Amino acid sequence: MTAIHPIYPLDVPMPKAGADAPIGLFDSGIGGLSVALEIARYLPNERIVYYADTAHVPYGPRDDQNIRELTAHAIEWLYRQGCKVAVVACNTASAFSLDYLREHYGENFPIIGLVPALKPAVLQTKSKTVAVLATPATFRGKLIKDVMHRFAEPAGVNVLTVTSLELVPFVEAGAQMSEACLNTLTEVLQPVVNQGADFLVLGCTHYPFLKSAIQYIFGQKLTLIDSGFAVARQTARILIKNELLFDQKRENCLRIECYVSGNNAENLKPVVARLIQDDISWNIANIGLISSED
Ligand code: DGL
Repeated sequence: MTAIHPIYPLDVPMPKAGADAPIGLFDSGIGGLSVALEIARYLPNERIVYYADTAHVPYGPRDDQNIRELTAHAIEWLYRQGCKVAVVACNTASAFSLDYLREHYGENFPIIGLVPALKPAVLQTKSKTVAVLATPATFRGKLIKDVMHRFAEPAGVNVLTVTSLELVPFVEAGAQMSEACLNTLTEVLQPVVNQGADFLVLGCTHYPFLKSAIQYIFGQKLTLIDSGFAVARQTARILIKNELLFDQKRENCLRIECYVSGNNAENLKPVVARLIQDDISWNIANIGLISSED
């Protein structure tokens, strides 16, 4: 694997975080909130620190090494905030970074990653054709190829891969039900429906926020699957295994603290308010640039 510059040597390691520390989550943008919400509901006593690198979103068109470096900076930031684990709530970032991050932090700081939920789609498809919608970078990565090889090929399931660079910006702008977004979804997904796909794997954490739009266009023709709930369960398993689960009730605590790079917290606030739409308490703040990568 190519080295990451700058590499962060653990010469000043953080004290090991305890169970009352927050769970760290990271995504290129606000899409990973789909995962944060699953975790917040599944683990109602946990606090979440969510970092969105909105100065650099989207990651999808970036090259492998650039994605790896931006991800390393983000996870190091969460580590320095005193988080007890990190969830790379981004398929694109996970595709290139998990091995490096796990090797780098070892047992001090468990890292949880994401891969598109192709396996449950393969197990349930009736038409033996499923589609995966993800960024081009996610398809270049090894994780999704492994899942195709291990589960889809032996089951004789045909996997249609679909990408679009236009969808993430619609979610970031809160424009999921706009005419332009509906047109893009139709253009991108009609071909897989025509080819007989009955399941659509939402292989990017922004896409669960497009569910209503996709269902509005395709109705029952596509069953939608994402990895959010599986990641929440995996997070619980990792916390239990490391004796880091916080199981006491917290009164009036802020559940999701969002931090965004760049200076767009004010603009994102109404968009995030529509995405969270829940009794989960949250706030959003700017943290400037934590990395100098372009
Ligand atoms: N949310 C991200 C993912 O799961 C990526 C979006 C992007 O930055 O292109 O892949």
